[in-house]
Amino acid sequence: MRLTLLPLLLFSSLALGNTLNVTVLGAQNNISTLECWALLSGFKHSSEAGTAGSESLNLGKLGGDSTYTILPAGFNGGRHNAPALHIRWVIFLSGLAHITLPNSTAEAWVAGGKNGAILALDTADVSAFGHYTTYPSKEQTITLEIPLGNEGIPAHTVLHGGPCKGEELSA
Ligand SMILES: *[C@@H]1O[C@H](CO)[C@@H](O)[C@H](O)[C@H]1NC(C)=O
Ligand SMILES: *[C@@H]1O[C@H](CO)[C@@H](O)[C@H](O)[C@H]1NC(C)=O
Ligand SMILES: *[C@@H]1O[C@H](CO)[C@@H](O)[C@H](O)[C@H]1NC(C)=O
Repeated sequence: MRLTLLPLLLFSSLALGNTLNVTVLGAQNNISTLECWALLSGFKHSSEAGTAGSESLNLGKLGGDSTYTILPAGFNGGRHNAPALHIRWVIFLSGLAHITLPNSTAEAWVAGGKNGAILALDTADVSAFGHYTTYPSKEQTITLEIPLGNEGIPAHTVLHGGPCKGEELSA
């Protein structure tokens, strides 16, 4: 019985999709952009105690000062760039962020929770005008910001312009 079930279990876990797709605030030709990237590192079955058998993806060595920020409901972050030299993961834990661009109609709605991780790369040296962020929900938006380490931007393929959506995100 066990032996016949095993291939079925392996198949169903692979069918979940084995890359993490993330919305990226990047920059091209000095203006901020939104893209959906698939990270190349891919999910593997964890063999670590405590998570053994779960799907796990290596984010590499992250580095630098990290921050936990509580934004009041309805906060308007205005127009800004990712902080100088601090390209980073921004992980929305709660609330809702609405990201818009001064030179494009692309926009992203990022809800706090399991699909809340984005990469913010549009520092002032690569984007003259940055992006706008508002937090239009009735609850606090909590973010965890973790700078990328010396390895820099993770290996990826660009799936398309605009934010990741629908079936590209975890259900
Ligand atoms: C990421 O996107 C690809 C291409 O659309 C898809 O096959 C894969 O299942 C997605 N990954 C997740 C975790 O949803
Ligand atoms: C981009 O947006 C900025 C800020 O709104 C504006 O000053 C600038 O003229 C725009 N550039 C282009 C090429 O539209
Ligand atoms: C980006 O645009 C700003 C404002 O127009 C300009 O001062 C700056 O030199 C530009 N940077 C690059 C790398 O083109």
